[in-house]
Amino acid sequence: MQPPVLQPPVLQPIASERAPYNGLTKAEQTLPSSAYWDADNYQRDLDAIWYKDWLLVCREADLAQPLAFRTFRIGTQEVVVLRDDTGVLRAFHNTCRHRGSQLCQESEGRLKARLITCPYHAWSYSLRGDLVRVPSKSLPDGFDKADHPLYRVALSVWRGFVFVNLAEDAAGSAQAAFDPASGDLCNWPLETLVSGHVLRKVMNCNWKIFWENFNECLHCPGVHKDLSRLVPIYGRGLMGRHDDPEWARHADNDAPEFSGGLRDGAQTWSSDGQAHGPVFAGLTPAEHAAGQTYATSLPSMFIVGHVDYVRSVRLVPLGPEQTELTAEWLFAPDALAATDIDNIITFGTQVLEEDAAICEVNQKGLRSMRHQAGVLMPEEYDLHRFHNWVRDRHQAAL
Ligand code: FES
Ligand SMILES: [Fe+2]
Repeated sequence: MQPPVLQPPVLQPIASERAPYNGLTKAEQTLPSSAYWDADNYQRDLDAIWYKDWLLVCREADLAQPLAFRTFRIGTQEVVVLRDDTGVLRAFHNTCRHRGSQLCQESEGRLKARLITCPYHAWSYSLRGDLVRVPSKSLPDGFDKADHPLYRVALSVWRGFVFVNLAEDAAGSAQAAFDPASGDLCNWPLETLVSGHVLRKVMNCNWKIFWENFNECLHCPGVHKDLSRLVPIYGRGLMGRHDDPEWARHADNDAPEFSGGLRDGAQTWSSDGQAHGPVFAGLTPAEHAAGQTYATSLPSMFIVGHVDYVRSVRLVPLGPEQTELTAEWLFAPDALAATDIDNIITFGTQVLEEDAAICEVNQKGLRSMRHQAGVLMPEEYDLHRFHNWVRDRHQAAL
């Protein structure tokens, strides 16, 4: 079978997005239910999407020191990302060129020398990936060390976040892979933020289920009671002003249930709605009023900017029905030193746990032999856009 052609890495807009009313006007089918549990479908997701796109792995600060490394699993693949002795970040398949042994066995650490040495027969590679030492007493004819460097993986840094791309012909950059229809976090000082908390969670659902849930708020009134109180428009099952077919009647109404901002008196996503520490200086009045600004890069991550902190969420598929989520809360260094962040962490964790739990419930129902596909409601226009993006990648096989 021919490998799928590399598609542009961004979501394609759908017509309704440009119209004043966002909602779908005709019934659209979901992906077939087998897309969420079938092993062949999962392999196609890996080949056509996860092994072709720019994927978030960590923050630059996680590899601050020379010789620091981390390993990451993406589907069936393992990648080692390291900072070399000259300060350059590099990524390789975590596989030796001799007989394919795993190279780095720990999930993170610091190399003991300026070499990566295979634990099996001690082939050694420079931190640039060149094979520099083979312990055999002699080398056979036709063998040249220069022909056996580590398998290199493309790496791109976007504003302090490290991305890799497993495609041998990886093109573009992490920056170009962001959905242009999502928000712009250029007024948030992302590069200088520091980690306040990390949440890791394995969810028993296909990775697409998480994104579908992310792309609609129909579930918000029932699933996110506290969040719906904080963001009143979510309590109406909507994500934004133009999701309401009657939006024009309320076009001048800036009450949060119509505008999408936070409830009166609230500043940020936290248990009491209050900012905990100084707010970022460079935000516009609109960004303050919005309460949350999202930037997304399918398939691996989104970031949401609030007035006083930022939260990133990274996904990685572990299997057809298992996805690992890593959420990280990022703060200005002085805010973190001076602020009690419990209110923020508790609230964000609650929302993520609510989403993870309902995603698992969704996954459980998809095995029904009678359920071939579902149907979308108008508010699920972004979900339809996501489905079309997946269909494009699968060459319309779904
Ligand atoms: S497999 Fe790595 S040195 Fe043999
Ligand atoms: Fe949700």
